[in-house]
Amino acid sequence: MRIGIIGAGQMARALGRGWAAAGHEVFVGARTFERAAELAEAIGNGAKAGGILQAAVFGEATLLAVPVTALSAVLRESGAGAFTGRALIDCTNAFLPDNGTFVLTEPAVAERIAAEAPGAHVVKAFNLCAAELWDSDRRSFEGRPLAVPLCGDDAGALDLVATLVADLDLRPVRAGGLAQARYLEATSAFVVGQWFSGNDGRAMIPPLEDAFAVPDGEQPSVNAHSPSLPAR
Ligand SMILES: NC(=O)c1ccc[n+]([C@@H]2O[C@H](COP(=O)([O-])OP(=O)(O)OC[C@H]3O[C@@H](n4cnc5c(N)ncnc54)[C@H](OP(=O)(O)O)[C@@H]3O)[C@@H](O)[C@H]2O)c1
Repeated sequence: MRIGIIGAGQMARALGRGWAAAGHEVFVGARTFERAAELAEAIGNGAKAGGILQAAVFGEATLLAVPVTALSAVLRESGAGAFTGRALIDCTNAFLPDNGTFVLTEPAVAERIAAEAPGAHVVKAFNLCAAELWDSDRRSFEGRPLAVPLCGDDAGALDLVATLVADLDLRPVRAGGLAQARYLEATSAFVVGQWFSGNDGRAMIPPLEDAFAVPDGEQPSVNAHSPSLPAR
């Protein structure tokens, strides 16, 4: 698959390296050619470099890997209709440190992207974990494969991004439509805030089988250990 990446920082590097190693064609676009070329070389496996506009129109999927404050400018530079009918992956987080925890600087970034890039099939993904984790070889914790929640409205784009998640040896989870992405964004702010406060976010949430997430007398329909995906 052809994947354009806008941004040449930590997330671009971590995800780009994994996708290029999995055999995908990766194109890095940044605001300076030097930064893009430097990252393409670090990614290896034939990754190419250029400008933002070139990355925007390069592939079946485009990853937005820039700060939220840069999103509007990047979408404007990509031009109206650049992403129409294609998957636009949003891994961004809009939060800032605040008194020992983190607060959101805006409530619904993925929905804003969809509004500013009409026709794009926006999928929220990869925002819950640090770039260092996506870049590492660790793919399961406490015996469970690491799951990547995906929120989006277009079934084809969700399938495509699920494939890209699986190609990184991670487990895609369909986590609802784009309207759910704001909760994923808030979850990230909350959990990262807890981690930075020294509290283990993972310890606060029980596994599915102990979550009592079923009406009385019924069994859970999905086993958390199962590699199969529930339909959205
Ligand atoms: N790092 C993480 O652990 C992590 C985890 C989850 C989500 N995220 C999210 O992923 C996104 C990228 O994070 P990152 O850690 O990869 O950031 P980063 O390492 O700071 O890289 C950001 C990239 O965006 C580019 N950029 C900044 N302002 C720009 C503008 N106005 N126009 C065009 N490009 C611009 C930078 O360009 P230059 O190279 O020219 O400086 C850089 O290449 C952020 O939204 C972040 O919240 C990060």
